[in-house]
Amino acid sequence: MSEEKKVVLKHKSVLDGNVTETVHKTVKDNFGGKIPYSVWNLTKSKQLMTLVGDNKTGRTTDKGETLSELNPDTVIRCLKIWSEKGDKVFDPFLNRGSTSILSAYMERIGYANDIVPRYIKEVELQKAKLLEEGYKWAENIHLNCGDARDIVNIIRNIFGIDRVDYIITSPPFWDVEKYISVDGQMSDMGDYDKFMEDYAKIIELYYEILKPDKFVTYIVNDFRRNKQYYWFSGDTINCFLKAGFVIHDIVISVVRTPHISGIGDAIYKRKTTLKYHEYVLTFRKVS
Ligand SMILES: C[S@@+](CC[C@H](N)C(=O)[O-])C[C@H]1O[C@@H](n2cnc3c(N)ncnc32)[C@H](O)[C@@H]1O
Repeated sequence: MSEEKKVVLKHKSVLDGNVTETVHKTVKDNFGGKIPYSVWNLTKSKQLMTLVGDNKTGRTTDKGETLSELNPDTVIRCLKIWSEKGDKVFDPFLNRGSTSILSAYMERIGYANDIVPRYIKEVELQKAKLLEEGYKWAENIHLNCGDARDIVNIIRNIFGIDRVDYIITSPPFWDVEKYISVDGQMSDMGDYDKFMEDYAKIIELYYEILKPDKFVTYIVNDFRRNKQYYWFSGDTINCFLKAGFVIHDIVISVVRTPHISGIGDAIYKRKTTLKYHEYVLTFRKVS
């Protein structure tokens, strides 16, 4: 079982061609030689970054607006584990659009929504670029600009579907990242408890739009504010449990914190560690 051997794998590349690669593999599996252990340390592959239009630098657009930095390799792994080909996959908080673009790439149908028209426009442009380059699967990216608090209407009346097979997102973490201000922008809600009320209501709505025995994945992190630790992952878990979901899986995913020289001493004084991980929380709707 543990003996390492060389195996030749054939898989589809992002260029829609079949590529062959030789990898070291210890156990037979369906994940390209990579067993999905519960701690993930995935580097961002350049090809996937290009596919989701993430070839800009760092965390902002050229206009200085924040764009999320969801690791596309994490999304691909989630899609492989918790969804199937042909599934309808939904992200209520689109931002850069990684989840819907990669869902379509992985032969699922990607549906996504965001409150900010500019983010929708950017992903529409990326979709048009992919189609122009001959990536036909990009037709399976469907977008809507709206408020996630209205997702039942969005799914039923705008996308015209009854229920989805998988929900995957990295939601707004209160105001930790600032997005473009528009009416309904949840990162503008000043009060954490008020934010959590609406955050919980949206999670309750998932019960209506998800098929039974299917999964929701939330990629989240905890954070500190004014010396207070916000257990955002725990609060998220509680929202899902209250809404009737069960915990299906919890993964720790390494997020490379940029090296900040001289921070070591400060950290020892503060007696806190530097965040180097996030949580991939997966819940199941019981039938
Ligand atoms: C962390 S980002 C999402 C990351 C995204 N899932 C990805 O694939 O990169 C959070 C997004 O939530 C959006 N948002 C905030 N309030 C919203 C609301 N009421 N309805 C829909 N989207 C909202 C923000 O505009 C922002 O783009």
